[in-house]
Amino acid sequence: MTTTAPTSAPTYDGDIYSDEALLEPYEDYRALRELGPAVWLSQHGAYAVARYDEARAVLTDADTFRSANGIALNEPANQAILGCTLASDGELHAHLRQVVASRLTPRALRPMTEVVTGKAEALVEGLVEKGSFDAVGDLARALPLSVVPDFIGWPQEGREHLLRWAGANFDSFGPMNARTERALPQCGEMAAYGAEIVRTRNVAPGSLGAGVLQAVDAGDISTEQAMMLMLDYLAPSLDTTISAVGSAIWLFAQHPDQWDLVRANPRLVANAVNEVVRIESPIRAFGRLAATDTRIGDVDVPAGSRVLVVYAAANRDERTFERPDEFDVTRANAVHQLGFGMGEHGCAGAGLARMESESLLRALASRVSRFHLQGTERALNNLIRAFGRVDVTVDRAPAAG
Ligand code: HEM
Repeated sequence: MTTTAPTSAPTYDGDIYSDEALLEPYEDYRALRELGPAVWLSQHGAYAVARYDEARAVLTDADTFRSANGIALNEPANQAILGCTLASDGELHAHLRQVVASRLTPRALRPMTEVVTGKAEALVEGLVEKGSFDAVGDLARALPLSVVPDFIGWPQEGREHLLRWAGANFDSFGPMNARTERALPQCGEMAAYGAEIVRTRNVAPGSLGAGVLQAVDAGDISTEQAMMLMLDYLAPSLDTTISAVGSAIWLFAQHPDQWDLVRANPRLVANAVNEVVRIESPIRAFGRLAATDTRIGDVDVPAGSRVLVVYAAANRDERTFERPDEFDVTRANAVHQLGFGMGEHGCAGAGLARMESESLLRALASRVSRFHLQGTERALNNLIRAFGRVDVTVDRAPAAG
């Protein structure tokens, strides 16, 4: 891997993973976009790609910008995830992704719709009845935790660790800072849990996890590969959606005009989810490894360089999105946001995440006329932009009719 300073690239000396930068990242991201199409991060030994067009170009050129050994900004994490779908390339990736993603297609998800909608309605009804709640703990976490572990088929024992492990997994993808160092041992626990599930075949019949075991039985993948594929379900299926829903309530509480638009026209809910993922991208950035000497815009990038695609910066690129810092649920090109990634590694679980987020917003739109923000607490994570709490009180909408 190349970690020396390049000659031609603009350089940024700030630490975009410090506490301050994680809390308020958008000025750093603006500075990166202004500096150039690819910017050398001297603190992290990687090129940041913060502009939309170039980010998209990197994501859609998986032959040049590789994921194996490239996703995280540190070697131990890259080694730990080597061989899961997220961290594989080419034919191997296509093969593994087929096993993981075939259970997450719109068709495969259809039977889930009723369950997710029903749970979202019941959850929201109870919270609106109370009049005040924490939109992270009581809402954003409650729905995914009540559907995703069953859907994937995890055994009951160990579920209490899922959120801690998922958070650690995302922390571990950062540079080797204190958060990453704390996280790595917990990632080991998560990998051991996934491996044990495969060894003991301890997943619910008919679940996504059972599908991975079927692929072993059919000779499509090895037992070792199945153990890695469990990480594709364990790591990204909870925190990401939780972040999006928590941010959504925070945004709507501050922009009641936008909530009025959604309430008046619930068909805007899908676009509203895109707009939330654009403006408060749950995953800040993932890396790649340049396989050959290449160029990003007019910047030379030598083979072996780490390239960090900053989705959260690209999604606020003023070259692509007008008034990028404004939350606008009617934004015509919100659908082009990169928050779910793009190209071969584009999010396999986006359909499920959208189903959960949209169900909650629809259930709220028919019952809540106003959110009033009472207080927030950020949860600091190297990769996930999220709140630890979003306390709100709500005004119940007058009954329809
Ligand atoms: C709002 C929620 C979500 C967001 C913002 C999100 C974001 C992302 C992003 C940015 C990537 C691209 C990685 C890359 O470029 O290397 C990705 C990949 C992935 N996501 Fe998600 N995700 C979400 C929910 C989920 C859920 C619910 C699941 C599982 C049930 C999931 C499973 C995956 C998998 C397996 C991949 C790897 C795909 C591949 O490498 O081919 N995600 N996600």
